[in-house]
Amino acid sequence: MLRSAIIAASRSRKCRSLVENLPLARPIVDRFVAGERVTDALAATRELTRDRLVTLDHLGEDTQERVQADAAVEAYRSLLGTLADEGLAAKAEVSVKLSALGRTLPRDGDKIALEGARAICEAAASAGTTVTVDMEDHTTVDATLSIVRELRVDFPWVGAVLQAYLRRTEGDCADLAGPGSRVRLCKGAYDEPASVAYRDRADVDASYVRCLKILMHGDGYPMVATHDPRLIAIAQDVALRAGRGREGYEHQMLFGIRADEQQRLAARGLRMRVYVPYGGEWYPYFVRRLGERPANLAFFARALVGR
Ligand code: FDA
Repeated sequence: MLRSAIIAASRSRKCRSLVENLPLARPIVDRFVAGERVTDALAATRELTRDRLVTLDHLGEDTQERVQADAAVEAYRSLLGTLADEGLAAKAEVSVKLSALGRTLPRDGDKIALEGARAICEAAASAGTTVTVDMEDHTTVDATLSIVRELRVDFPWVGAVLQAYLRRTEGDCADLAGPGSRVRLCKGAYDEPASVAYRDRADVDASYVRCLKILMHGDGYPMVATHDPRLIAIAQDVALRAGRGREGYEHQMLFGIRADEQQRLAARGLRMRVYVPYGGEWYPYFVRRLGERPANLAFFARALVGR
């Protein structure tokens, strides 16, 4: 129930303007978001890439205007140019939400998002890095995977995200476990109905392990996106059993979450990538992060009343 309320709040204009205009919210937002400007994102990237890898997300989703979608594409192209100029492209890639590129526009949304994603992939190829396409709610999975398949014709390194909470995901893992295929496996962050998703935490974790096994025993490159210590340990064990060395997969975590563990894994010589979100459109991302942990909500509420 709490998760449903949080996801509803992440889409509410009223809640958005309330939170965005609260100066006291800023320090808590800063924990999860690298900043509003590209210079903030670059500063975080320089710092993190001392011992870790990075994937940068120019925040935005559910774009309703073509001009906004085009601006998002330009923001990524410019970011990728800067990553190359600053010598950061070997350690930093980008993550993209198709709804930020116009997928939900009323006319030709899929086509517009595909064109935008293609332009971003071209810029990434010139910079010498990669792109991973984020996954949004379950109604978007078929369209997203179809766009990823089209992109992979010219850019075989394009990564896809799969969500273990969806009942269909084992099948998608099997489809996407082919040679060269980069797949980021996460638990899933949206409020999904029981008809399509496991709602019980234990069921989601069990699905995560089944998906991990498929990806690790496949021919692609698994990206293990979780902060869950138990699943991290299982991933390392399954990788070992599947005969994968440290270069054969990577761990991924979000900016500001379990940073000590990120450093510990990197210090052990494991590949560890941090997802770094930045930009002015931080509200829905931030609210999803708040909702993942009741302690975050309590912390936020205390900060708002100044205690
Ligand atoms: P779980 O939620 O069980 O958390 C395990 C532990 O991690 C917690 O006990 C806590 O210690 C810590 N933790 C987790 N979240 C926290 C938070 N918000 N604040 C503080 N501590 C926290 N989802 C999606 O639907 N589509 C996508 O494209 C992506 N992309 C993505 C990329 C990367 C790199 C990551 C790491 C995650 C995503 N996600 C995502 C989000 C993902 O689906 C999921 O919501 C979060 O990662 C939280 O789930 P965990 O696997 O960490 O487990």
